[in-house]
Amino acid sequence: MYGERVHVMDHPLVAHKLTIMRDKNTSVKDFRELVSEIGMLITYEATRDLPLTTKHIETPLCEADMPTLAGKKFAVVPILRAGLGLVDGVLRMVPSARVGHIGMYRDEETLIPHVYFCKMPKDIADRDIIIVDPMLATGGSAVEAIDEMKKLGCRNIKLMVLVAAPEGIKAVTEAHPDVDIYAGAVDSHLNERGYIVPGLGDAGDRIFGTK
Ligand code: PRP
Ligand code: URA
Repeated sequence: MYGERVHVMDHPLVAHKLTIMRDKNTSVKDFRELVSEIGMLITYEATRDLPLTTKHIETPLCEADMPTLAGKKFAVVPILRAGLGLVDGVLRMVPSARVGHIGMYRDEETLIPHVYFCKMPKDIADRDIIIVDPMLATGGSAVEAIDEMKKLGCRNIKLMVLVAAPEGIKAVTEAHPDVDIYAGAVDSHLNERGYIVPGLGDAGDRIFGTK
């Protein structure tokens, strides 16, 4: 429906965990744990194309050439704040990944994103990138984050979100048709304040308990 670069999870565990997160009565502790768990599950899909090589090993029974990761250099880039909640889920799947941070907030009136922080590993241009953020709403933050990574020389970029709005998917695929999007779910629409409906509310506030 959205083209081959948009991957929407169709796994019952993701759907189930997202429903718990959407419930406004879910505690900060549970919400935070679920962000991490779903992050891990989506990483499983987002790393499906990692290249393999073979390694010669000795099992208790015989010698054998067996598959092993080809050792591609990898970085996870959370969009602060809310993206921080997804980092440990990615790192549990890809423990050797480096972490770059991009700080961004959406102006609540204009919905335009503003970059306030950017700290990346030195060799970021040589790494495959997964940008992580729980919410893809208007798409402004994700488009800007991808712009920043491309300015730094990154070429192989993926975007991982828990909940996307159709408007955000359209914005990212139009601005960056080379970027794969991995989403836990695609919701109905944005409301007049740029919130995803039905959504899960303000992801940053729910992860960090700031409201
Ligand atoms: C939220 C969310 C995304 C952005 C999505 O962050 O985590 O970064 O909004 O909206 P967009 O697609 O319309 O740009 P927010 O600006 O609320 O900052 P926070 O993470 O510090 O809470
Ligand atoms: N940011 C959020 O945290 N939630 C939304 O629904 C939209 C943007």
